[in-house]
Amino acid sequence: MWALLRSLAYTLAALILPLVALATYRLTLHPLARVPGPRAAAVSNAWLAWQVRGGRLLALGKRLHKTYGPVVRVGVDEVWVCSKEGFAAVYVGLGGGGFEKGGFYLATALNKPEMDWTGGLHFPDTLDLLSEFDVKRYRLQRRLMGPVYQAANLKKFERAVDEVMERAVARLRELDGAEVDLKEWMHIITVECLGAVVLSWSPGYIRNASDGGTSAQGYLGWRRKTIFGLFPLVTTASFFSKTVARQFSNLWGVTFKTPRNFKPFFTPVYQKSSGRITAALRKINPTTDPRKDLLADLINLHKSRPDEFTEPYLRRLAVTNFGAGHETMTSALTAAMAMIASHAAAARAVAAESRNTAPGGSRCEYTAASIREAQRLHPVIGMALPRRTPRGGVCLHGHFLPAGTTIGCNPVSLHRDEEIFGGDADVFVPERWFRDEGQGRGVIERYNLTWGGGGRTCPGRNLAEMVLGRVVQGLWREFDVRVVEMPPEEEVRYYFMAMLTDVRVRFVPVDEGVEGGGR
Ligand code: HEM
Ligand SMILES: *[C@@H]1O[C@H](CO)[C@@H](O)[C@H](O)[C@H]1NC(C)=O
Ligand SMILES: *[C@@H]1O[C@H](CO)[C@@H](O)[C@H](O)[C@H]1NC(C)=O
Repeated sequence: MWALLRSLAYTLAALILPLVALATYRLTLHPLARVPGPRAAAVSNAWLAWQVRGGRLLALGKRLHKTYGPVVRVGVDEVWVCSKEGFAAVYVGLGGGGFEKGGFYLATALNKPEMDWTGGLHFPDTLDLLSEFDVKRYRLQRRLMGPVYQAANLKKFERAVDEVMERAVARLRELDGAEVDLKEWMHIITVECLGAVVLSWSPGYIRNASDGGTSAQGYLGWRRKTIFGLFPLVTTASFFSKTVARQFSNLWGVTFKTPRNFKPFFTPVYQKSSGRITAALRKINPTTDPRKDLLADLINLHKSRPDEFTEPYLRRLAVTNFGAGHETMTSALTAAMAMIASHAAAARAVAAESRNTAPGGSRCEYTAASIREAQRLHPVIGMALPRRTPRGGVCLHGHFLPAGTTIGCNPVSLHRDEEIFGGDADVFVPERWFRDEGQGRGVIERYNLTWGGGGRTCPGRNLAEMVLGRVVQGLWREFDVRVVEMPPEEEVRYYFMAMLTDVRVRFVPVDEGVEGGGR
């Protein structure tokens, strides 16, 4: 009996002691031990993962640096920085390109890598922009796609967006001011715009007045991906073992089911783009397609430089427009509509501008500033854009961070930093984008992460800005948007992808509502 108890005690000690030793090391002798932050975060990445699981990143981003200062340890080997210097070092340093991407992006990779005998990972060359770790490859990819995504080239797609808006407005009028989920409607409009611009195709969401649950489903995916991203070793193991992936996901309680009859829009997107590419590249009898959409431009790009902008690149980029664009644009549109609608003066100004200009009128400066301001307060990325310190490490605010430390700025924190944005950083003030002095345009246009940072800024920005402006104007031209329910900040769920969830609004047709009503 005693012998049994004793061997049990030894076994327990053998299991627990190394963990205690490891935790003690991470708290005391680890190179980041003196960096301030929650002590639990220093012991394990599980601390940050727990915040992610609960979607609590908005509150965390607002509070963290106020509590601990400009450099905070949020994980065993991860710090977040929030300051001009920090931003400059991470995203502008090393000749303007900033530091290289961190292991987090393994969790967003679209391909399975191969592992060499040293444990190094090698991904196939298929244009996986967000998770491309090969800087040389990435630069070439951006150079090749650049001309297609220039503002001048995208102008010809404005008409397609306006046509989507005509259909959306007509359908929203039929709802007659009924309460709707803002995020779902912004997703409906976003996917319809992308469908029209990229493929001359409609997913049928406007007609159905529903996105078939696709935005909700996608968001559950981000919750899971974000947690995996915090554990690069587990994610690496998951590439090679489905069991590891499943068990880890179950352990964190972030496994989710696909509802019955669920129809992802990616299926038709793949089918349509793939069918057209195959037809256009046939050796015998290639089709001459009359459609002049973004896919047509990409097919022409491939035909003009087949060895550089390869067929795999072409097939991938066609779909990336949707993959990288649908949730980001939904997030920005939701933020813009919610912020404008909940601030009476802004609502009046945006309504007046939208109603006094033809579609796409270029003199909608207040509207543009309001969109920018909403993107500042509710950026599409809800945690740090993680990078890796280079050889030699860096010194920031008196802390030495050795090479290979994961480091990033959280846009939620950076965009509310009073040194950069002033004492009213927490408030929605579109006018700040017109200020010329103090914390005016010169500073705030330099220090923000709305479109990412350094060499890895958003390649879809021009496309996104064209759509955002026309959709916001198109809606305010026809409707007074009334916020019925704005959830308190603790209930908004933010992951790496961040959206204002559960905002409920009414779209009240202008000719029926009170002119320019804010609330
Ligand atoms: C309002 C809409 C959008 C916003 C606010 C936005 C913002 C961003 C941000 C912040 C990043 C950097 C992410 C990071 O460093 O981890 C990014 C990357 C990216 N965006 Fe956008 N985006 C938007 C729409 C689009 C659209 C429509 C496309 C379609 C082509 C697109 C394509 C991409 C791609 C491919 C990347 C990866 C680039 C890289 O990692 O180097 N985005 N975007
Ligand atoms: C539109 O609604 C119908 C009826 O509910 C459904 O069968 C169809 O799949 C929906 N279409 C899309 C694209 O979700
Ligand atoms: C900051 O925001 C402004 C307006 O959205 C933009 O023009 C500028 O490029 C941004 N700065 C950075 C560094 O991304």
